[in-house]
Amino acid sequence: MDISITTLTENTATIGFIGEWGLSILIEADNKRILLDTGPGFSAIYNAQIAGIDFRTINTIVLSHGHFDHTGGLREILARRTDKMDIIAHPSIWEAKYSIRENDKRYIGIPFARELLEGLGGRFNLSRQPTWLTGNIVTSGEVPLITGYEEIDQALYVKEKDAFRLDTLYDDLSLAIKTDMGLAIFLGCAHRGMINIIRHFQKITGDERVYSIVGGTHLFSASPERLDSTIAELKKIGIRKLGVSHCTGFEASARLAAEFKDIFFLNSAGSRHQLL
Ligand SMILES: [Fe+2]
Ligand SMILES: [Fe+2]
Repeated sequence: MDISITTLTENTATIGFIGEWGLSILIEADNKRILLDTGPGFSAIYNAQIAGIDFRTINTIVLSHGHFDHTGGLREILARRTDKMDIIAHPSIWEAKYSIRENDKRYIGIPFARELLEGLGGRFNLSRQPTWLTGNIVTSGEVPLITGYEEIDQALYVKEKDAFRLDTLYDDLSLAIKTDMGLAIFLGCAHRGMINIIRHFQKITGDERVYSIVGGTHLFSASPERLDSTIAELKKIGIRKLGVSHCTGFEASARLAAEFKDIFFLNSAGSRHQLL
């Protein structure tokens, strides 16, 4: 199966494109054009225009979770279509999500009312379970925490009535494509941990082999021990391509580049890759 990707939003950008904190990746595989996330604002629209991508040709949007940097481009993308658009996500995307770091408390959830997006043709298909888009493409649904060393960021909260509770990020969805070479896995922010996500996809698909991992890994705040364990695990699994983005952070990206050498790439806005 051919898989090609075009990254429309990422913190950094290749020449001619614009960078914006967030993520949006167009994935073309199995006769589908799937948009994983939408970035926070206008970069996906601008970069799609530069890359010659027409949003009317996209079949489905998958939202990796409810944070603004993955969902804030929705309004503009939906506004550029005339027909309905299926949006696959977890019901918890609509929780009131906050980040609280050193006296900086800010709302970081979806910046639009659901009614507004539905009025623009968004058709939300919300599920806690894996959703198969084709016989080969599946979302993770809720990811169990099994590794022990992958913790959810303790600065992320949900506001319920007037109280804040830690966000469990059950809405953290990823996407996997079954190929002859193993699984091609796409991450939004990997809030529930990259290795937990891999383990979960191995179980869902019955395939132990992982061909590639592309997207946000949320390793920017990982302890050195967690980074070591993650790298050791990826090597044991034997991945063949690793394209990191967004919340991987500079230090973890540099370490992964040094560890994985030729199979590593920095997946910036404007990057186009024929993965398979
Ligand atoms: Fe996030
Ligand atoms: Fe993010």
